[in-house]
Formats: sequence, C-alpha cells, structure tokens
Amino acid sequence: MTLLNTCTDLNSLKKMLKFTALATLFSASFSVFAEPVEIKFSHVVAENTPKGQMALKFKELVEQRLPGEYQVNVFPNSQLFGDNNELSALLLNDVQFVAPSLSKFERYTKKLQIFDLPFLFKDMDAVNRFQQSESGQNLLNSMKRKGIVGLGYLHNGMKQFSASSPLVLPTDANGKKFRIMASDVLAAQFQAVDAIPVKKPFSEVFTLLQTRAIDGQENTWSNIYSKKFYEVQSHITESNHGVLDYMVVTSNTFWKSLPGDKRKVIKAALDEAVAYGNDIAAAKVDKDKQAIIDSNRSEITYLTPEQRAAWVSAMKPVWAQFEDKIGKDLIDAAVASNK
Ligand code: SIN
Repeated sequence: MTLLNTCTDLNSLKKMLKFTALATLFSASFSVFAEPVEIKFSHVVAENTPKGQMALKFKELVEQRLPGEYQVNVFPNSQLFGDNNELSALLLNDVQFVAPSLSKFERYTKKLQIFDLPFLFKDMDAVNRFQQSESGQNLLNSMKRKGIVGLGYLHNGMKQFSASSPLVLPTDANGKKFRIMASDVLAAQFQAVDAIPVKKPFSEVFTLLQTRAIDGQENTWSNIYSKKFYEVQSHITESNHGVLDYMVVTSNTFWKSLPGDKRKVIKAALDEAVAYGNDIAAAKVDKDKQAIIDSNRSEITYLTPEQRAAWVSAMKPVWAQFEDKIGKDLIDAAVASNK
C-alpha cells in the first residue's frame, strides 16, 4: 500500500465518521421534534357524562405516561362521527377509539343483543357481575373476525321511559312513537306493548322530541339530564327496564400496529379511565335524577310492584324471540348474575 493510498483511506474514514455523527445528531433531534401520534376518540354524548369523563381521563393518562409520543384528541357530541358511521370510521382507521352503546353493534354480532333484553338484569351490580364473568369477557372478542377489538365495558346505567304523557301501564304506550337505538331487540320490546319504535341516531333525539315528531324515548338518567330531554318530555317513568352500557372498542389494525410496550401502557390507561368512568356513572344515577326532579320540568312516575309486573309480563316474551340468535346458555348466565 502506498503512502498516498493510506492518506486517502484515512480521509474517507474521517469523512464517514463525520457523516455518521451528523446523521445520529440529526435523527436524535428529529425524534425530539417529531409530532406525537394522534389517537382520535369519538363519541356521541356530552362531556359531563360517564363516557365523556372517561374519554377525557384516558387522554390525560396516555399523554402523561407517553409524553410527546401519543396525543389523544376527544370528539364528543357526535362532532366527528355519529351513530350511523362511527364503527365504519373505526374500521377505516379514521378514528382509533369509540365506545358505542351495546345496542349499536348488531351489524357486527348478534351476541351483544343480550344486553337489550327487557327486564333481564335486576340492577347494575348484576350487569357488572355478568360483564366480568367468563361469558361476559368472551363477548369482548365476539367481533374480532370483523376487525373490532373489545377492550372493556363501561357503565352508564339502567334505562327509564319518557314520554309526552304518563306511562303507568303498558297500555299507555299503545300507538305511541318511541325513538330507539338501532337494535331489533329494542324494536321488539316496544312492539310488545303495541307502540311504534323509530330507529334514530342519538344526535337527533332532542329535536324529534321537541317537535313532537316522536312521543317518547328510553334512556338513562345521565343522558336524559345531559341532553336536556327532560325539558321536552313532560313525563318520565322510573322503570329500570333495561341497561345502557358501552363497549370501548378499537380496530384490530390499529391495535396491532402499536408497539407491544406502548399497547400495554395504553390498555392500562384505558382500564383506569374506565374505572373512573364507572364511579361517575354510579354517582350520576342519583345526582342527575335529583337535578331533573328539582327542575320541575318532568313529572316522575314511580311504579308500584303491580304496575311494574304488568310491564314485565308484556315485554318479557321478547326473550324467546331472540333466544336462538343470542344463545340460551348466554341468557341463562345473565339470569344467574341476578343472584
Ligand atoms: C350513548 O349513551 O352513547 C347514546 C345512547 C343513545 O343513543 O340513546
């Protein structure tokens, strides 16, 4: 090797080292200034609800634990997507988290119809027991083949009927139009009392009630209060006839795209946010009900045991109509959670 050759090699080596050092510096500073990955969480309810608060808590925890890496943007009140398109948007990865009511998954699985069967659960403790049981946990995976991953249940509460006239006995509902979520079980529930079910998105309910295009609806105290349905419904019946809870879901595609360690942090943040939302749901039952009572806008009907029994015997035959699709074993497991 000549002296000239050695000098040239040394020079190239120096140049290479300089380039590598610059490249490392550049990539380090690039990652410092890189934009965080955006995670969109869309929902249809107000912020002062169990779901609204849970989503904000999730944002807080993820951004606290993965600072600069992930940013969670929450879109409440159907601002981004509503009932008609939130699940298809999830599958297109236009949104990464949604938490629809359990009544809104019918296109993806018939199994979750169990939660709509009228008078199935005696209270929220029974609902919780069922959701946490093996059967309930298996339901989180019931839409995996369709690309939807269930990450957990979130409570809202038991549903009440409201209308522009008193609903004391099932015959009071005859011929009346009730807005329902997009669920065939809920349609059958109102048909069982000769009422007319009308499937409409949540974002349209207030206007439909205000303009008297429909006579009534069913919802939780929290939704009736936060969406001001009580201002346009003269009567509410405390029926506790069904449950309105949620499944927090993401898409298989998004979930699998996350690095394993980040997925773990995000799941833990979600579990904590859900527990926080569940505490709010429990507190809101009495708080929002009392706020409605104090407003004097709606008269509340408290059913006697005999009046309630009349609703039960009119609506319970709906179970048999859906037993084949839901599965008798699953219904039996839900009934067992009442004990
Ligand atoms: C919700 O709580 O997410 C909406 C419920 C409804 O559509 O009535």
